[in-house]
Amino acid sequence: MEDLLGKLGNKFGVLAESDTTQLKVMAKNEDVAVGDLFIIPSRRGHARFYFFRATQYANVMNRTIDMGDVARNKLTMDDSYFADDLNDEKLIELKGMLLGYAQKEVNGKWSFHRPRRLPEHLTEVYLVTEENAVVVRELLASQLGSGIFVGYLLAGEKALSSVPVYMPPHALSHHIGVFGRTGGGKSNLLMVLIESMFRYNEKVELDGNGRKVSLLAIDPHDEFCTWPSGQRNGIEEIVSKYDFKSGSWNSLVAPFYYLTARDTISKEGQRRIRLSRADIGPQDLLSIMEFTDQQTAFANQIYSFHGERWINRLLSGDIGEHTGEGAAFLPGTISAVERRVSFLRRGQTQIFTSYDPEIDQEYESVLPDIICALESGRIITVDTTLMTELEQFLVTTVVARTLFMLRKALKSARSAETLEREICISLGFDPENGSTGMRAFAESMIEALNEGRLPYVRNGEVVRIEELPHVNVLIEEAPSVLNPERLRFGSIFRDISRQGRKFGIGLTVISQQVTAIDHGILSQLNTEITMALGNEAERKEAIKNASADLYGFEKELQVMGKGQAIMTASYRDVPLPVQAPLFDSLVERGCIR
Ligand SMILES: Nc1ncnc2c1ncn2[C@@H]1O[C@H](COP(=O)(O)OP(=O)(O)OP(=O)(O)O)[C@@H](O)[C@H]1O
Ligand SMILES: [Mg+2]
Repeated sequence: MEDLLGKLGNKFGVLAESDTTQLKVMAKNEDVAVGDLFIIPSRRGHARFYFFRATQYANVMNRTIDMGDVARNKLTMDDSYFADDLNDEKLIELKGMLLGYAQKEVNGKWSFHRPRRLPEHLTEVYLVTEENAVVVRELLASQLGSGIFVGYLLAGEKALSSVPVYMPPHALSHHIGVFGRTGGGKSNLLMVLIESMFRYNEKVELDGNGRKVSLLAIDPHDEFCTWPSGQRNGIEEIVSKYDFKSGSWNSLVAPFYYLTARDTISKEGQRRIRLSRADIGPQDLLSIMEFTDQQTAFANQIYSFHGERWINRLLSGDIGEHTGEGAAFLPGTISAVERRVSFLRRGQTQIFTSYDPEIDQEYESVLPDIICALESGRIITVDTTLMTELEQFLVTTVVARTLFMLRKALKSARSAETLEREICISLGFDPENGSTGMRAFAESMIEALNEGRLPYVRNGEVVRIEELPHVNVLIEEAPSVLNPERLRFGSIFRDISRQGRKFGIGLTVISQQVTAIDHGILSQLNTEITMALGNEAERKEAIKNASADLYGFEKELQVMGKGQAIMTASYRDVPLPVQAPLFDSLVERGCIR
């Protein structure tokens, strides 16, 4: 305790009244701001350092009770109030809340506890500044975390550049919400996170152990790849560090980091996105558009009969005769389903390729490569600017669903021998029982498995999900996909939000509004990064949904500056105010722990 005390600098004030929710401190007249952090060392019982955050300041006079009298006198008899001793009379009274306290454990580390105790009477109080920030870093180590760099701890208006805040890698396989009004700095923060993920993977690769992280970022503004608003060139610049002839490119970036519907691609690691109609199952369409029960039954029946060629059959009007073995379907039902899949017609979509081996239309899809990449720790952005909303939604759904199914198959496989079969069955491909399902995709995955691109087997054993990367699917402008009306029963995103963590797959939801996101999804968020929010209703919703009590932070949500956020998480004891740095200013530094 003594060595830390020595580093705290000059005392700021003395603790006056206190209870476990609010403290009052008397201090000299100094420049202060709401949100300032204070440390209160105390020896009551055990040596502890309490953390305290100011929520309110007031100017008071030492011996005078009524400031109004002093002001009146100053106005009428100004000179007499310039007396030196008057300055000594000026004090500030600050009120605020206890965040908790740090206590040294037997292992020599500081643990953090929520405020269940109080510091002693009249304890000295120290203001946290850049000069004594090392003390904060040591005391709060358990809260600041390690892994993916997010920003710097914010004390009042000051970002403490020696106190970086991290998000643990496992947070990515749980669900993350990033909320803030337009222009608040969400996209900039995401660039910072993306760069941190690359650095983190680099470190895992270098150490030769640990779990990598993977990201599939749906980017409707096409900003992440080249970061058009800044001086740095987005992910393009981040990956340019990895020489593509070298091992680091192959282990961190290959085969691609950027997928786009544009045709003009010249750079290594960028690829034209094409998925096959054969990758789409009825459940994908059901989860993005409205189907009646009859239409659902019909779509399922066509699929169970024709498998991966079901959409081709529907589009060509050649659904065969044997499809009506069970119930017969009304022509209206059939044509309604045909209409619903018509956006997948050739000429209507640049993304989905047709598939019919009988007429030499082979399986053409990057889906197998996307899955293998995500299973190997890759950060991939998908530029969806040229996609329709429906295509974007479908692409995201198909990738998320297939990954989810494969991980489920992996979990249920007992041995490397049964894995192939589990994969095929999970994709509905079961030749022994006459079911085609997603045969082409399943065969591609088996090939990838055998070539080692799909890393599900190691040393002859099936790997555990805990050995695979934490995968996150990031959805910018989330309300367009995850709003309550859109999110239908059976949506893969609802499944992932409920069970994704078991399979190491998480969602990141980016939105200007908290209220526009489906409640089921909101309630499953584990990490919330909340920036300034535009109105009362949004702030209320954010506070309601936060994983930690935001009591005392309400004001901040209104006044925070660009890139400032309150981070709450179920794995943390306190909300942490952070300042994300500007991505442009984030030159390479040791921000990975
Ligand atoms: N951490 C930061 N520090 C300083 N300035 C920032 C920071 N983050 C963002 N800004 C500034 O704010 C601008 C808008 O930021 P950004 O595009 O990240 O906002 P956004 O929340 O994504 O907005 P939208 O909801 O409209 O997409 C940036 O161009 C940048 O100038
Ligand atoms: Mg943005």
